[in-house]
Amino acid sequence: MNFSDDDLKEAADLIRNGELVAFPTETVYGLGADATNSKAIEKIYVAKKRPSDNPLIVHVSGKEMLLKCVDHLPPIADELIKKFWPGPLTLVFNRSQYISPSVTKGLDTVAIRCPNHQIALRLISISDKPIAAPSANLSGRPSPTSAEHVIEDLFGRIPLIIDGGTTQIGLESTVVSLVSNPPIMLRPGGVTLEELKAIIPDIQTKAENEIAKLSPGTRYTHYSPRKDVYLLTGFTTEKEIEIYLNGVSGDYVLFCTNSVHSHPQKIPHILLGKSKKEIQQNLFSYLRNLDTMKYESAYIEEVEPTEEGLAIMNRLTKAAKKIIRIN
Ligand code: TXA
Ligand code: MG
Repeated sequence: MNFSDDDLKEAADLIRNGELVAFPTETVYGLGADATNSKAIEKIYVAKKRPSDNPLIVHVSGKEMLLKCVDHLPPIADELIKKFWPGPLTLVFNRSQYISPSVTKGLDTVAIRCPNHQIALRLISISDKPIAAPSANLSGRPSPTSAEHVIEDLFGRIPLIIDGGTTQIGLESTVVSLVSNPPIMLRPGGVTLEELKAIIPDIQTKAENEIAKLSPGTRYTHYSPRKDVYLLTGFTTEKEIEIYLNGVSGDYVLFCTNSVHSHPQKIPHILLGKSKKEIQQNLFSYLRNLDTMKYESAYIEEVEPTEEGLAIMNRLTKAAKKIIRIN
């Protein structure tokens, strides 16, 4: 969808006046407010029903704006920014006083990224403010990858939703803390661990329970449709899945992640995508669609946790009511 600067000026005025605007990014839709205005930031928590101790990501238009938000740039930041910005990489820095403490929830660090999306970038530039934005869903629901998803969750709760079509990546940014040395990946996302290792060979990844302490948002249930989702692991053939599901009662659908194997014809099934990239793009949309499908629940096949698979498995593990090991 094309928006002129005049169209976006209305949105930018709302941001400058301390109001909320939902806008597209390349990952998922964000619910934005002026990151320097505490009253505006508090409205995000109310609209989303977000736990009040979970800090927000600040979106900047580039390095100049970044420098206002941070205390200093560690040397590795320059390399990462050159390679991955604008793009789905959020970096955690020591913060400056410019950012409202409501964004960082008492932490002395701030998470910042530069989105690779024309509407998002122009909105930040025209409002001339760093924009704090979590994903534009009600807390706990799958993140929105289209304006329709935002409408489902937030219509009537916020003044403006900018419809920029479907998002390209489909799940959230990768979060890397540059406050620790060596840097730690706090959340897998749009930039893969393999890509990061090319620049930070000694990057750390932490067990989920340790990450919870470092990144408050990872503690809450996430990405869940209203119906039950079960993650199937440990299988090597579709036959094993068929045997398992034949012993299960209830009205369910199988979300498949493997296009090579032949799928059990008697079990209703949907292929989430032909590659990990496609599965990543479609995942949240299918999790939401489950709620309007006639099935009571969904079983989802695991994905190999390499490249995009690591972020996909992270989200599936959080969305699942139960992880079932078949073998
Ligand atoms: O792709 C994305 O990152 C999207 C779009 C809108 O940019 N945003 C997003 O925001 O996913 P949200 O709020 O849903 O997730 C932010 C994550 C949470 O896990 C939060 O705890 C973590 O970033 N975070 C924020 N500030 C932090 C900080 N100072 N230190 C560590 N983790 C932080
Ligand atoms: Mg979120």
